[in-house]
Amino acid sequence: MTAKTGGRLGQIRSHFEKEAEAFDRVFFKIMPSYRRMIEAAVEAVPFQKGKALRALDLGCGTGNLAEALIKAYPGSSVTCLDMAENMIRMARAKLGKKRGVSFWQGDIRKFDYSGRYDAILASMVLHHIEKKEKTAFYRRLRNTLSRNGVFNVIDIFVSPDRLIQEFYVREWKSFMLNNGIKRAQVENMLCRHRREDRPVSLSEELAMLRRAGFARAEVIIKEYNFAAISARR
Ligand SMILES: C[S@@+](CC[C@H](N)C(=O)[O-])C[C@H]1O[C@@H](n2cnc3c(N)ncnc32)[C@H](O)[C@@H]1O
Repeated sequence: MTAKTGGRLGQIRSHFEKEAEAFDRVFFKIMPSYRRMIEAAVEAVPFQKGKALRALDLGCGTGNLAEALIKAYPGSSVTCLDMAENMIRMARAKLGKKRGVSFWQGDIRKFDYSGRYDAILASMVLHHIEKKEKTAFYRRLRNTLSRNGVFNVIDIFVSPDRLIQEFYVREWKSFMLNNGIKRAQVENMLCRHRREDRPVSLSEELAMLRRAGFARAEVIIKEYNFAAISARR
């Protein structure tokens, strides 16, 4: 992916390039239950702890999800994918010395999914993908999974009910404010979220996963508009 990728994705990438350095200090103040959801996404991997898995971390950012997976499954081969060079750099600094970890920079939709994986994990990245592309993309992911393989997703969702959605946004705002994020920054972030992101409802996400062929797709944890899902091949 070139440095000049344009359009909505180019904009998203340029934000993450700028925010990579501060990401680990700030993200848990922005996203409710971030650490708990990371833990849950790893806990819901149905293989015996300690087994060496083949795994992907889509939109790995600074590598927090991959790190948690490797802790539970040492010796795993984990490929961390991200389009932002600086995010990859931070993830490499965290995980680069671990055996079996590799990195790939680019758009997750363009990766060569011809390998076989036991677990595909994706935290807070899939809301960047347009709804119309998701089912076909998820089908490709499903087809790369081994028997009992899982696709575990953490993401932000919207409610189809206007009042509930307003309540989610209110709760999200106060979570950020209570964590010391300045009001102007909160407003800025919500503005950017509305402009750049494409969140779907949780029921739409589950339906797309099932349509893509996943035998089971289940919510394993939810807090307001954030949730973790585990989908079994
Ligand atoms: C909110 S961060 C989440 C990072 C990490 N997964 C976590 O939960 O800590 C989203 C990440 O996804 C990456 N990203 C967004 N869209 C992408 C795409 N289409 N292909 C590759 N990376 C993408 C961004 O560069 C960013 O690093």
